[in-house]
Amino acid sequence: MQDSNIFKLRVQDLMNNVKELHPEKRGTIVLFAGFEDDRHRFAQESSFYYFTGIEEPAVVLTIDLDGHKVLYVPNCIEERAKWVVSPLQLTQEYAKQIGVDEVRLLGSSCSGYQMHPYSSESEYSNLASDLKKKINSDSVLFALDPYTPYGYIEQRLLLQRLRSFGAAPHVVDISSIVARMRRSKDVKEIELMYKAVEITCIAQEAAARAISHGANEAEVQASLEYIITGSHAEIAFPSIVASGKNSTVLHYNQNNAELKKGDLVVVDIGARYDGYCADITRTYPVSGTFTKRQKEIYNIVLDTQSYIASIAKPGMWLSYKEKPDQSLNHLARAFIKEKGYDQYFPHGIGHFLGLDVHDVGDYTEPLKAGDVITIEPGIYIADEQIGVRIEDDYWIVKDDAICLSEGLPKVAEEIEEMVKEKFE
Ligand code: GLY
Ligand code: MN
Repeated sequence: MQDSNIFKLRVQDLMNNVKELHPEKRGTIVLFAGFEDDRHRFAQESSFYYFTGIEEPAVVLTIDLDGHKVLYVPNCIEERAKWVVSPLQLTQEYAKQIGVDEVRLLGSSCSGYQMHPYSSESEYSNLASDLKKKINSDSVLFALDPYTPYGYIEQRLLLQRLRSFGAAPHVVDISSIVARMRRSKDVKEIELMYKAVEITCIAQEAAARAISHGANEAEVQASLEYIITGSHAEIAFPSIVASGKNSTVLHYNQNNAELKKGDLVVVDIGARYDGYCADITRTYPVSGTFTKRQKEIYNIVLDTQSYIASIAKPGMWLSYKEKPDQSLNHLARAFIKEKGYDQYFPHGIGHFLGLDVHDVGDYTEPLKAGDVITIEPGIYIADEQIGVRIEDDYWIVKDDAICLSEGLPKVAEEIEEMVKEKFE
């Protein structure tokens, strides 16, 4: 858990950034937590977590630009304590630590122990009436309300509800301000990402050991997820264990086929530790030895990754078609094209990584120190049942890119050794 002071500072930065970008506007920032689905483990909405560290659903934080902050909590704390957990982060004491002035109930008591965006108007009555008083013809609500078809879905749904209660008449989107803040990682965030990467590397080693002729993809998944769960982490996305022809399907995650001698297995996995994600891929030969053809493709992918990692640094772009000569994605494609395989490289070279696996960040802005990205070239030849992807996570620093997962082998002969090493 990060020090609570960091959340206070981030909220202050957010206020400053909003004021700087909208000097003519007055109003209130509103941030909504995510909602809990009855039968799934709750994962907090990443931006809400970034500013509060709170892991409880349906909470709302309002921040007046003059500095007053209120945390609204669902009126079902006693029921939640019976069904799920006693939500200690919703106390006045925690609120004070993160710089909140007042904790208030959202509205009348909830039915059951959970709130939903479509909970009744009365369950949101305190928030709605406070917002009605604050938001008028000369002040606006600053919220995560991007003009895109994806992202912040539940938050936008709740904004619509508030609008229907007459409590959110003028909304100004702040998603690009938040994305810029979250994209640049501080040292504590990098430490947490190192930890997520470390767990993921151990999980890769467990996966390699579980790979053998006759084993099932599901057993490999179980081996690696045992490590992640036992390390007090969670899986950051559905684990991909894709053998044979499945290795050529980019986000295959059925993980139920039998491994056969001669197959390759793509293992694309990530732990999430204290909110922060790793995303690492290795490709293994089931037999413990690559065929000549598999090794040829493997080495082109590895060379591509090495080349891109060697030029990744501030001033380059991750993927930007206006600057193809400085865009890692375009340079990777050109490199693979020269080897004759560009039609078998159907995805981008990488993405920002952080609280989300595909993290927020503007791809039209060049890389800066503090960014964390993946570099993950791949070649997928369905007719030959050869799919190879190699992915590592890189921290962009002053004039370089540091591989967070440097200790995990990836040279072909080392990968073969990893598979040959078996549990006693
Ligand atoms: N590792 C999965 C992805 O980057 O989409
Ligand atoms: Mn990835």
